[in-house]
Amino acid sequence: MPLFRSLRKRARRLLWGWAYRRLARPLLFTLPPETAMTVGERALAPRILWRALAPSSAEISAPASVGGLALRNPVGLAAGLDKRCAYLGSLAALGFGYVVGGTVTAGPRPGNPKPRVLRLRERESVINALGFPGDGLDAALRRLERLPRTGARILVSIAALEEQEAADCLSRLEPVVDGVEINVSSPNTEGLRRFHEPEALRGLIGSLNAVREKPLFVKIPPYKTDDDEERERVLRLVRVCREEGVDAVTAANTIPVEDARLATGRGGLSGRPILENMLAMLPEVRSELGNDVGLNACGGVASADDARRALAAGANTVQLYTALIFHGPALVEEICAGLQAKPAVSAEPRAAIA
Ligand SMILES: Cc1cc2nc3c(=O)[nH]c(=O)nc-3n(C[C@H](O)[C@H](O)[C@H](O)COP(=O)(O)O)c2cc1C
Repeated sequence: MPLFRSLRKRARRLLWGWAYRRLARPLLFTLPPETAMTVGERALAPRILWRALAPSSAEISAPASVGGLALRNPVGLAAGLDKRCAYLGSLAALGFGYVVGGTVTAGPRPGNPKPRVLRLRERESVINALGFPGDGLDAALRRLERLPRTGARILVSIAALEEQEAADCLSRLEPVVDGVEINVSSPNTEGLRRFHEPEALRGLIGSLNAVREKPLFVKIPPYKTDDDEERERVLRLVRVCREEGVDAVTAANTIPVEDARLATGRGGLSGRPILENMLAMLPEVRSELGNDVGLNACGGVASADDARRALAAGANTVQLYTALIFHGPALVEEICAGLQAKPAVSAEPRAAIA
């Protein structure tokens, strides 16, 4: 009987994966990327449907924790897919251990001029220069207040150009979320670069620490691991995160690239091409953080094997976004099943740099 049940689960996963890759994806990919994203959002709207299709808790059980949050599994949704926090219930039903809504800003923003998203099909990647389009904190709060709680933790990413604005956003969000991720790393919002200065970042985290009661994650920019100067600049920020007592660091955001097809001429690269660089960052970031601060691996994760490598390299969880576009909603279950079948072995001991 257990064999029959496990075969049935596997068949269901394969069917889901097949339906997305063979039917939904070809249709979506005939549309311009931003239109396809809107269609994807519409498909996520009927929460009842996604909850009916949700995997059982046993199928996605691979207990983990990060920054003091116990999770049903270590697979998180990265910020950016649900900027308005409108579909987090449906996204949670896909089986994620946690979902990060946003990035939410204090007021509504139109984002950057279009075209601002490119899909690089062969490379399983995306370049985006969205620049935080959204309807602002009040609207996101109204949706979060109505969000029924299931097994996934709910976090929201925020961004602000001033410390006080960030602290206000955090205090208004905390009653309705399990934690907040502060985004200081979007390559598409010029003003955020201010927080790439260690003392500016220290000031920002200090303002958040003064008001917060729940876990705080900081999403850092990536560095190219073959560039010593860039590495040192980002690791200095990681050190500030550790010294100021944040609960977890998310490493990392998209890699800035130039592309004349975007109205802004540049954007952030995500998906498969950034995986190896992200994996190479992890032991270095972990080494700076020591073992008391959580680490979320984000960049190009698209399979159980990728997740296992990230966890073995020092991460507590993985976050993904672009792989969902290419592999569809069954991916979360697939990764959890892979982690159940063969858990990650962490690279011990994790010596911290003194
Ligand atoms: C279309 C798009 C929009 C994004 N928007 C945000 C955002 O609002 N806030 C944020 O912190 N990261 C944002 N990201 C970055 C992702 O959260 C993630 O860091 C990055 O895409 C790398 O992970 P991935 O390769 O799994 O997508 C966005 C990424 C994409 C592709």
